[in-house]
Amino acid sequence: MCGITGIVTQNSDNIGELLVRCSSKLTYRGYDSVGVAAVRNGAVDLRKDVGTIEEVNELLGLSSMKGDRGIAQLRWATYGAPTKMNAQPHFGCEEVFYGAHNGNLHNYVEYKKELIETGHIVRSENDGELCVHAVDKYYEQTGDMFEAVRLSIQDLKGAFAYAVGRADEQEIYAVKMGSSLVAGVADNATIVSSDLPSVLPLTNNVIYLADGEMLVLTPHDVKVYRIEDGKQLERVPQISYVDARAAEKGGYPHFMLKEINEQPKVAQDVLGILESSKNEEWLKLIENASRHYLVACGSSYNASIVGTYYFNRLAGIPMLHAIGGQFQPMYGTTMDEDSLSILVSQSGETKDILNVLNLINAKHYGKTLGVLNVIGSTLMFQADSHIPMACGYEVSVPATKTYFSQSIIFAYLAAKLGERNGHIDSSEAKIFINQLRNDLPSLTQTTIDRTGILAKNLARTMMDVKDLYCLGYGFTDGVAREGALKIKEICYNHCEGMYSSEFKHGPLSIVTKNYPVIFTTTTEDSWMVINHINEVKARHGRTIVVGEFEKTLEPYVANKHDYLEVPKSDVLINPLLDVIPLQLLSYFLSVDIGINPDLPRNLSKTLTVD
Ligand code: BG6
Repeated sequence: MCGITGIVTQNSDNIGELLVRCSSKLTYRGYDSVGVAAVRNGAVDLRKDVGTIEEVNELLGLSSMKGDRGIAQLRWATYGAPTKMNAQPHFGCEEVFYGAHNGNLHNYVEYKKELIETGHIVRSENDGELCVHAVDKYYEQTGDMFEAVRLSIQDLKGAFAYAVGRADEQEIYAVKMGSSLVAGVADNATIVSSDLPSVLPLTNNVIYLADGEMLVLTPHDVKVYRIEDGKQLERVPQISYVDARAAEKGGYPHFMLKEINEQPKVAQDVLGILESSKNEEWLKLIENASRHYLVACGSSYNASIVGTYYFNRLAGIPMLHAIGGQFQPMYGTTMDEDSLSILVSQSGETKDILNVLNLINAKHYGKTLGVLNVIGSTLMFQADSHIPMACGYEVSVPATKTYFSQSIIFAYLAAKLGERNGHIDSSEAKIFINQLRNDLPSLTQTTIDRTGILAKNLARTMMDVKDLYCLGYGFTDGVAREGALKIKEICYNHCEGMYSSEFKHGPLSIVTKNYPVIFTTTTEDSWMVINHINEVKARHGRTIVVGEFEKTLEPYVANKHDYLEVPKSDVLINPLLDVIPLQLLSYFLSVDIGINPDLPRNLSKTLTVD
């Protein structure tokens, strides 16, 4: 996934500074390589190289580039290795057309061959370059930039968004075909971007786009058109109330630590959303379906596993969970119009999830309910209904507060549904929901405060650990997988998350003296987990416990820092808290190792590619 930003200004000459300031807010979308194309007096100055935007700016002076319009791109490599030539933006055949894309061209190989055979000079191995050549090609035929952009789409197959301009024209054009795109109108400039954080430094006067739409940026306004027939569409800018400070660290050394510490507020805010009037719509969608699926990727998938336990236990709903890419092969033939798929994606742009959305809509496989954080995302526009996660922007690539929000949403919905269908007593439901509303925010803060130092001390003893397991049981099944994912993402260690009762059926063979195995527990299942801990302890493995303190477990941890004690809470609140020490452990270990947890290598915040 990448981030594109295009800006057109009225008579200013500092386009480089504007593009760097705005596009740097998209770093979480890609940081393999960066480039800026700045246009001044009909000439394009194109500078790009591998590295983060800070590194490339230092190297090539991006901020000092002159001009009144231009395009910047931050890349996360798919087609073509991260190299200077494959960095974006790209030129067309000559240094006249310039542009950049985000997404994937599925017909890259054959289209590149066709272009070369028809005389195009294609310089890179990156599919984004072909978008510029496609416009170049149709401009040759039409002599008109608007038509050239509109017609270029017929050559391009896949899911993408791109921005393109001509050196001798002041406008910048952009198209949305499956990847995110949003525009903004400031007093003396207009902007188009892959995501809202890079628009906000310029304006909060925002225009959201839908797939199949294109836009024309002029110095004064943004015009939106339907690509199919070129018809202009009325699209009034809306004021975005997303706090631009969300894209600042607020005094924390990393966004990840800031976002972990925002979780008490997330707990408070998401309950406010859940108790709003719209929840009746969400509850009815679930009640009216005969089959229910939770579909997600990455951390959102781990939260969905936790959700599956809540829906089964509290609401008696046999919810199934599926990884985005697994959904069609596994459930594609058993879906019907009475199914409900809850699509869980904080970005609302993960391609694996949008593929499921498109399948369901195309095959009329029932309804869809999005659980998403980014307002204006494709999932928000295209799902039958959506629950906003109310987390504020999550900038750090490893998810923390969004996973936390999702888990709370599932716990709440399950309790409400269980109360309505009689699966649990109304009093039990009310007590649990009161705990979510009144106790969880402060319990979250206490957990951060108490386990922060424990996690920091534990991390110090794990500096040379390269391989470990993180095991869960019952409600901590998804929690352990999330803890393992965090360690994989930002410590570059192999940490496998799995079910603790399964460990003896094979993986136990890995255990030798001091081999570390983390066990997440709740007071409901520690009687069982103690057997699994024993199986490791008996083979002199190092057993680390995460959960509420229990005397029975104390003998199984070699020393204090191997017990990440979570504050006492209701047995079904416990699983929500157990993830926090694991988030903190991975964070401190990552920093101790010398990794930037916000920008782990090879990863990206949102993968808008297959
Ligand atoms: C990955 C991110 O690319 O996508 C993870 O690195 C995230 O942090 C996963 O959990 C799913 O993203 P989303 O936006 O669909 O929740």
